[in-house]
Amino acid sequence: MKKIILIHGPNLNLLGERAKEHYGDVTLAKLEKIVTKEAEKSGVKIIAFQSNHEGGLIDFLQKNRKKADGIIINPGALAHYSYALHDALLDSQIPSVEVHLSDIGQREKWRRVSVTASACKKIISGKKIEGYLEALHYLSKI
Ligand code: DQA
Repeated sequence: MKKIILIHGPNLNLLGERAKEHYGDVTLAKLEKIVTKEAEKSGVKIIAFQSNHEGGLIDFLQKNRKKADGIIINPGALAHYSYALHDALLDSQIPSVEVHLSDIGQREKWRRVSVTASACKKIISGKKIEGYLEALHYLSKI
């Protein structure tokens, strides 16, 4: 059975409450459920994790990378400055897709750059929850 890690960075535990104009009103639990159900249709297992701590995300990736075939990651604000997370994604040696609910290219200047994206096969931004399903379908096929 193919396994895909679904990982969320800082503040994304507050989805459904925070900045709904950017992130919509779906909670993280609901989002994980939707992705898990969609994955089940093609026999893929989702391993979900969220942390507000950079090191927590890196520890999780290091611990689980050998058990998984792909990574869907929304790094939250860490996307804009975490070279450590970039390296952890690269070192995982499995294909990753970076997803952002909002369109980071259309927001504040500091959000327009993602330093983690170059460790990923693909970046999907601004498609809300659809972005995760697109990432899932992409990873299920490779
Ligand atoms: C986000 C965009 C980031 O800039 C922000 O810090 C987030 C959420 C998104 O999903 O659009 O926490 O990753």
